[in-house]
Formats: sequence, C-alpha cells, structure tokens
Amino acid sequence: MCGIVGYVGTTSGTTALDVVMEGLARLEYRGYDSAGVALVAEGQVAAQKRAGKLVNLRQALVDAPLPASRTAIGHTRWATHGGPTDQNAHPHRGGDDGKLALIHNGIIENFHSLKTQLLADGVGFASETDTEVAAQLLAQAYAGDLTEAMRTVVNRLEGAFTLLAVHADNPGVVVGARRNSPLVVGRGEHENFLGSDVAAFIGHTRQAIELGQDQIVTITPESIDIIGFDGAPAQGKPYEVTWDAAAAEKGGHRSFMAKEIAEQPHAVADTLLGRTDESGRLVLDELRIAEEDLRRVSKITIIACGTAAYAGMVAKYAIEHWTRIPCEVELAHEFRYRDPVIDSTSLVVSISQSGETMDTLMAVKHANDLGAHTLSICNTHGSTIPRESDAVLYTHAGPEIAVASTKAFLAQITASYILGLYLAQLRGTLSEEEIAEITHELGEVPHKLSHLLDSMDRVREIARFMADSRSVLFLGRHVGFPVALEGALKLKEIAYIHAEGFAAGELKHGPIALIEPGQPVFIVVPSPSTAHGLHGKVVSNIQEIRARGARTLVIAEEGDDDVVPFADEIIRVPATPTLLAPLLTVVPLQVFACELATARGLDVDQPRNLAKSVTVE
Ligand code: F6R
Repeated sequence: MCGIVGYVGTTSGTTALDVVMEGLARLEYRGYDSAGVALVAEGQVAAQKRAGKLVNLRQALVDAPLPASRTAIGHTRWATHGGPTDQNAHPHRGGDDGKLALIHNGIIENFHSLKTQLLADGVGFASETDTEVAAQLLAQAYAGDLTEAMRTVVNRLEGAFTLLAVHADNPGVVVGARRNSPLVVGRGEHENFLGSDVAAFIGHTRQAIELGQDQIVTITPESIDIIGFDGAPAQGKPYEVTWDAAAAEKGGHRSFMAKEIAEQPHAVADTLLGRTDESGRLVLDELRIAEEDLRRVSKITIIACGTAAYAGMVAKYAIEHWTRIPCEVELAHEFRYRDPVIDSTSLVVSISQSGETMDTLMAVKHANDLGAHTLSICNTHGSTIPRESDAVLYTHAGPEIAVASTKAFLAQITASYILGLYLAQLRGTLSEEEIAEITHELGEVPHKLSHLLDSMDRVREIARFMADSRSVLFLGRHVGFPVALEGALKLKEIAYIHAEGFAAGELKHGPIALIEPGQPVFIVVPSPSTAHGLHGKVVSNIQEIRARGARTLVIAEEGDDDVVPFADEIIRVPATPTLLAPLLTVVPLQVFACELATARGLDVDQPRNLAKSVTVE
C-alpha cells in the first residue's frame, strides 16, 4: 500500500526534504502510482506532488525548488479513492489558508457521509480522495494544538488509516495516528522519524518504536509523545532493527512472496472495508452499472487467466448458489476465439490483479463489442482493464511484487463474493439475515487467517523435507477443486516441480493411475458440514489413493477426526462455512510452495520465464 515518511530535525549536510525523499525511494518497493512531499518553512506549508514515479516528483522539485526546512512529510500513493493523478496525489491541504498538509494510508470507510457534511459547511474539495476529507476535518478541528486536533478527527473516522500531518504554525512537529494500518517511529539524535515501515528511515537509525492500535504520536527533534485515541498517555514498544535495507523492504521476510502471504489478513480485511453498512447490507456506490441492468442479468461470465481464473472458479460456486444466475468461468484467451453467447443481458466479469493482462483486456473488449455489461475486479487503480470496463470493483490487496500471486488471489475471491452478495441483495435471492450472516462470516476470515498463518511451522518442515520431490499431486472437490489447481500452479511456477491439480471425483476416471508408492498428494478436504455428503466422498478418495501407496497430506478443518486414520500429515485450518473455506485452505499450499522453492535455492519472487504483468497475447 502507500508509503509514508515523516521527519523532524536536521542531520549534517541534509535537509528534511532530502531525508523524506530518500525514505520514499526506500519505500518504492511497496508499489505506487504518485508521490508528494510537504514541508514547513517560513511560517508556511510548501508542497509538491506528481502522478507517476518519483522521478516526476524530483523533476518538479528541480523546476520549482522548495525552501530549506527541518520538518517534512512524504508519501507514495497506491490509488484507492480517485485515480492516480496530480490532484489526487498526497499531501492534501486543509483549510482556506492551506496551512495544514496531511498524508494517509488506508481507507476511510465513512468518508462519504463526512464529505457530505463538509460540503454542506461550504468546504471545497480539490481531489476525489477520502484523504482530503481527513485534511479538511483536521483543519476545522485545529485550534493551535495539532495533536489535539488529530485526536478529535480520528475519533470521527471509521476504517483503516495511518495519518501524518504538519501545520505551518507548528514548525518542528509532525503528528501521526494509526488504526488498522502500520506506522513506526524511528528514534534519532536530535531528530525523529515516522514511517509506514522501518525501510523509511533505516538509512538513519535502527532504533524503532512500534505503535499500538489506535495511537497518536507527536514527534519533535527532541521528543516522541504517544497517546491513545482517548487522550490517555500510552507507550510504544521499542526495538532495534537488525535487518539490512533489503530485508527491511520485505518486512524481515525472506521474499516478497513470503511477505505477501503474511499480508493476507489485511488484503481480505481491506477489500471488505466500506462495502457493508452497520446492518450487513452491501453498499457498492462505486458500481457504475444501473441497478435495473443488474437485475436483468441473465448470465454471468467470468474471464481471467491463471490464478485470477482460479479465483473466478471459486467465485462461481458462491455466485450461482447465492444469486441463482448461471455463471461460467472462462480463460480469457479462449473466450473471444469461440464465438461466446453474449448479449446485453450478460454480465462479463473480468478478474485481474494487474489490470494489464493483454489476454483479459482483449476479452473485455470483445465482451464490450458484443454488448455485454462489463465489470472489472482489479487491484490496480488507473490500469487499462478497469478503464475499458463499464464498472470496477477494486480489491485492496496493496501492490503485489512477487510474480506468483497470493494476497491478490484472496482479495479477488473476497471481491467476487461481495459482488455475488450484492446481486443476491438486489434480486432478493438471499434474505437480509442471510446476507448479514455471510458478511459477518467474511469479516471473521482475517482473524482466522492470522491464526492459520501462525501455525505454519509444520508445513514449512514438510516443504523442506520434500525439496527434492519430482511430482506432487493436489486433489479437491467443490470449492476445493480450484484450490487444488492453485496449489499445483504455485508449486509449478516457483519451484519448477511437476504438479497437477484434479477434482477428486475425477480420480478414478484416469489420474489414479499416476499413484505409485510414495507419491505425495495434497487433499483439500471439505468441511464435514458440507451438503450432499461431500466430506465422506473425499475421505473415501483419500483411502483409495493411500491404499495404492500415496503419501497423503491432508488439509482438513479443525476437529475433523474422520481423516485422521488415512492421513500421513494433517494440516488444520479453522472451521468456516464451506463457500468461504478457499480463503483459508489455499494458505498452506502457498506456504508450502514458497518454502520448498526457497529450500531449493530458487528466486521465489522472480521465477524463470515469467513476468508479473503479461502484456502480450
Ligand atoms: C500466478 C499468477 C498468474 C496471474 C495471471 C493473471 O501466480 O500470478 O497466473 O494470476 O497472469 O494476472 P492478472 O491477475 O494480473 O491479470
């Protein structure tokens, strides 16, 4: 997500602007589409911001230099509300006098109602961002004490946010606040730092302080004061950063892939943010397709490639079940070459992390030509596929750097579920209570994911032990089938091991011939509560392959004892409703592939022959 740097003090030979620009460069790995800085000098706030890479901002600073200062904030933005433009880039100003500047990471869920109130108060806005709302509120609340104003404002905000602000009348002060979004303090000698992670200041200090949830920090060159959102004095957790700069970018993980796997609770939580009201009703103001057209949809076609297509396969089970609209999933590169039956009552949903995959883009254009309504589920603001589509539902996974997709997959499933529930709500195929129950269960997933991620040591051991495997098979059924396909894809693409995913029911129609003594097979077992006795059928499949010598690696819900006699290894996942289970069951398979590839000494983040964004057909 966005990168944030704040600085007060002076180091010999450098200015606050230099420190902040260096911090932004170190945060580039987080991915961004615009950047900006603000500093306090000569009783004013001076700022510069540009869409695009840091080089654009640097050029703007050469063309129009800012005055020397000892107080500065800087930001790299990954667009969420509003496209990646100069106007939407941070910092944002607050107040008529422009004396306040603010930067933000996260999503302010209730920005719409706050903005309506501000507009009624006669406040004007220069951008489409939720951030500017916070800047204007802060300017309204400011009465000489920036920390106190921040406290007033954060108590009005809902969602996830890190905020940093400076005010022209408070030189030498930067105030930060965090809720559900990261912010760390760097402690220096006659200087202090704030950063979205330690990479922001690792060139200057290794003494860091971790802030707790719902805390506000005020830094000056000589002091670091922390309070809670309730105003009570609070403590951070001091620690020494032992990572080098490269490791700091990866948050201490060995690879970006490992880091992104660990970020999945946030990817799901952020994708859910702002999409429901207090009663659990879906609110998708961002969809630009008329409700009437959505009610008339007679068929949904999901088009995507690779991992995104597997997310679509998972979504199909839920969408058909909830909406009773026929839903098909098609590889984007096959779609437009087979004369698909599409008309103005078709909803064609593309899923793409990058928003630039040429195969998917061409399929979307084809669907547009056929008169379909096109909706893009995408992780990258301002990318081509959302622009070519009638509507977009952004996933908020944050930038994905590793070539192998992980957190985007979970965010894509989450967004597809939001879409399915929204359609069910519009068409009345689920009751309000049913929708509220499912959204509640979805809201529980991030917590379950964190718990699951904390219990992956055995999976890593198994992976290291299996580093020399020549072939691994993956079986699943129902929503576990696409999970099996995804597990196999992850292993192929980063560990270069032959891997195949199958629908478990298909075994005896051919694949079972592959089973020989010692053949490792992962089996994704559905919850015992799954309808139609599916669980028992998969348990029988495990017995069948084990009887033929397979080494069974069983992914099963906590408390499922039926699998115990037939499992060589059991990997437990928290219990969750069947349709939501892929958000959990895929995690051990991601961790397995990542660890195994690492154990083989491979470049996990940049596998051979692959690119992150496939912009050719
Ligand atoms: C696999 C992977 C790819 C992508 C596919 C689509 O780990 O990342 O299979 O899912 O190339 O990419 P996007 O989602 O950018 O359209």
